[in-house]
Amino acid sequence: MQLPPDLRAALEDVLGETRASHLKVSAADISRRYRTPKQPNLPALRSAEDVVAYVAVRLPATYAAVRHGLRQTLAAVPDGVPATQLDVGAGPGTAAWAAVATWPGLGAITLVERDPEVISIGRRLAARASAGPLREARWLREDLRRLSPPARHALVTAAYVLGELDLDVQDRLVARLWQASRGLLVLVEPGTPAGFARIRRARAQLLGLGAQVAAPCPHDEECPMADGDWCHFAQRLERSALHRRSKDAELGHEDEKFSYVAASRWPVRRAEGRVLRHPQVRQGHVRLEVCGPHGLRSEVVARSDGRRYRLAKDLAWGEAMPSPGSEEEEPN
Ligand SMILES: C[S@@+](CC[C@H](N)C(=O)[O-])C[C@H]1O[C@@H](n2cnc3c(N)ncnc32)[C@H](O)[C@@H]1O
Repeated sequence: MQLPPDLRAALEDVLGETRASHLKVSAADISRRYRTPKQPNLPALRSAEDVVAYVAVRLPATYAAVRHGLRQTLAAVPDGVPATQLDVGAGPGTAAWAAVATWPGLGAITLVERDPEVISIGRRLAARASAGPLREARWLREDLRRLSPPARHALVTAAYVLGELDLDVQDRLVARLWQASRGLLVLVEPGTPAGFARIRRARAQLLGLGAQVAAPCPHDEECPMADGDWCHFAQRLERSALHRRSKDAELGHEDEKFSYVAASRWPVRRAEGRVLRHPQVRQGHVRLEVCGPHGLRSEVVARSDGRRYRLAKDLAWGEAMPSPGSEEEEPN
């Protein structure tokens, strides 16, 4: 995955003045803090330098994760076209950039964030967006621990933020965000056991509140993932020169692992299953690990399966298994 050209240009513009040496120190610091368990309510971003480094190093990865989650949501809810978005713990506006790329017709956008430095850099990036609603987005400086009931929006998103909140605040927030959603609520967390545990807990809570799961799960049953395993996905993203400089990285790409859930009030087109690992493409067959309506399964699709094999060969980790009758989904 690549960042959209306007976001790439905005990052180059806004981060261009920052000295690479400063960026590197803060970026290494942030990565360490994001890897170690959080102390509740201690912000992971502690200075203006941290904020700039977060944007350089983490924004591309979180963008790739959110964009994947929204794409899969769109595939599952093709007739629900959100007109408005509320994004909380918005950081530099990452999820709004991913949303306008997914639904170009998206109108008004509201972003809630408590850190003024983050809002400031988010505004500077958004000013360079080609999508008008992103340039005109409303930024609200609010603390999610004391969030008053927000106005209702068709799409509500919260990416990489539940983990910065205490458990009781997470539960209250999830309920409040579901109330605030007219159509979709999408939550994204790091693809770690702890990140998945938060997503699984929120999923169960949302089902209890009457939501349907649009993605990634192809069912509304209890999550079948065994103890010790965790449902997560990965997106490979290309690193820009700036991104490589700030991380001292040699590789031209990185893989971002994440967990997510999309809850819907709109009708959901159920996938037959969700691909849970990289498919193993071998001579004459493809082996898939799939979550389906009856739980987890391993499936071998052989060349002799004809059309199903041709479809299976092109599937990627995180994609939906096409349902047997969906003729229109076969690529030309
Ligand atoms: C890891 S960043 C994620 C930002 C963005 N959603 C993304 O995916 O790139 C978490 C953000 O949540 C914000 N945040 C954390 N706790 C908050 C709170 N109690 N109220 C409002 N914002 C909060 C932080 O300031 C930070 O910008």
